[in-house]
Amino acid sequence: MNKIDILLGLQWGDEGKGKVVDALTPNYDIVARFQGGPNAGHTIEFEGKKFVLHNIPSGVLTPGCVNLIGNGVIIDPHILQGEIEGLNQAGFNLRQTLLIANRAHLILPSHRALDAANEKALGKMKVGTTLKGIGPTYTDKTARKGLRIGDIASADFRERYENLKQHHLRQMAAVDFDMNGLLLDGVSFEEYEKLWFEGVEYLKQFQFVDGEYYINEALDNGKKVLAEGAQGSMLDVDFGSYPFVTSSNVIAAGVCSGLGVAPSRIGKVYGIFKAYCTRVGTGPFPTELFDATGETLRQNGHEFGATTGRPRRCGWLDLPALKYAVMLSGVTDLMMMKSDVMDDFETIKVATAYRYNGVETRQLPFAACTETMEPIYTELPGWQQKIENQIPEKLENYIKFIENYVGVPIKFVSYGPDRTQNILR
Ligand code: GDP
Ligand code: IMO
Ligand code: MG
Repeated sequence: MNKIDILLGLQWGDEGKGKVVDALTPNYDIVARFQGGPNAGHTIEFEGKKFVLHNIPSGVLTPGCVNLIGNGVIIDPHILQGEIEGLNQAGFNLRQTLLIANRAHLILPSHRALDAANEKALGKMKVGTTLKGIGPTYTDKTARKGLRIGDIASADFRERYENLKQHHLRQMAAVDFDMNGLLLDGVSFEEYEKLWFEGVEYLKQFQFVDGEYYINEALDNGKKVLAEGAQGSMLDVDFGSYPFVTSSNVIAAGVCSGLGVAPSRIGKVYGIFKAYCTRVGTGPFPTELFDATGETLRQNGHEFGATTGRPRRCGWLDLPALKYAVMLSGVTDLMMMKSDVMDDFETIKVATAYRYNGVETRQLPFAACTETMEPIYTELPGWQQKIENQIPEKLENYIKFIENYVGVPIKFVSYGPDRTQNILR
C-alpha cells in the first residue's frame, strides 16, 4: 500500500514550494493541491523560462504527471481558465492531465468583493489579504452556504449563484461598501461576472472526479502521489498568528481533509523553509529587519510577491517558529531554500528564543499579535562564496546549527531559482 508524501511551506509562504514540487515530480505519478486557492503563487524556472501557478499543481510542467485540484482547494473559474490557457500557449495541454475534485468550492466574484469590503472595514487592522476572495469563500464553506465545482452541472446553478450573491450584497451594504468603484483584476464587477461565467463554461471540458476515491484508489494501485501545500505553517488558520492568517489548514493535517486520505496513509513530510524569513501582509514577524540588511535580502532574493507584486517583509531565520512548524506537521525531511541570497554576508543571525513579558521562551505565545516578542539571536559566520554544486564549510555549519535546534535533517539545499540548482545531502 503506497502512502502519500507531502510538501509544506514552514514559514509565511513563498518558501519556494513550486520549485521543489517541480523538481520532485519526476518521482511521482500524481501531484495534488489540498488547500488554498489563487492566493498562492508558485514559481517554477527551467531552461530560461518562468511559470507562476496559482490554482494548478506544480507537477503540471512534467510530461505524464496527473495533477489534481483537491476538494480542500477553492477555485475562481476565471483565474483558472487564464492559467490553463497561458500554459496551453506555452505548449502544455492539460486536457488529459488536469483533474478537478467535484467538492472543491467556488470563489464567486462577490466573494472577492466581500474580501475587499472586509479589508476596508478593518482599516488599520486589515490582514493585507491577496483580495482573491479566500476568507469569504472558506467562511461560506463552513457556514454551509457555498457552491462547489460539481454544482455547475446542475439545472438551478444560476439561481443558487444569484441567491448567494444577494446574500453577499446584503453583507456589503451592512458595512456601507460601495461596489461602484470596485475593480476586480482591472475590470468592473459586472464585467468580471461575465468573465467568471465564461470560465465556468470553459471548465466543463475538464474531468471532474470524486477526488477522495481517485487518490485512495491510485495509492492502492501503487501510484506515487505528492500533496503540494500552499501558503506556510505560520499562516495556518489554527496555529498561525491569528487573525493575520489565511483561512485554511495549511499544515499536514490539511491533507487528510483536503484530499480525503487517512492519517495512516501519510508517508514522508517534506518541510521547506528559506535560509531567512519573509512575510507579505500584516501581522507579527519577530525577526523582521527594517535596516539595510533587510533591504539586501529583499533585493538579492527578489522578494516581491508572485501573486500581488507586493514587496515582502524580510528578516532573519526564526528557529522557534521553524521548530513549531516541524512539530505541527511531523516533518521528516527539511529542505533549505535561497541559501545563495546570503552568499555575501559576513555574519548571519538566527533567532533561538524570544524574550516575552520579561521571560525567555522557545515557544510561540498565544498573544503573539498583541504583545512584543523580542528575538534572542545567535550570530554565525557567513560562507562568503558562491554556492555551486558543493556546500561550503561555513554553510555546512549553518545547516548543522539548524538541524541541531530543530531535530530533523536538512536533506536538500537550494541555491538558485532554476530546477537544477540543488544539492542533496
Ligand atoms: P512558493 O509560493 O513557495 O512556490 O514560492 P514563490 O514562487 O512565491 O517564491 C519563491 C521565489 O524564489 C521564486 O521567485 C523562485 O523562483 C525563487 N527561488 C526558489 N528557490 C530559490 C533559491 O534557492 N534561490 C533563489 N535565489 N531563488 C529561489
Ligand atoms: P504561497 O502559496 C505568502 C497571506 C496574505 C495575507 C494572508 C491572508 O505562494 O506561499 P488571503 O488572501 O489568503 O486571505 O491572505 O495570507 N498569503 C500569502 N503569503 N504566500 C502565499 O501563498 C500566501 N497566500 C496568502 O499576504 O497576509
Ligand atoms: Mg508564493
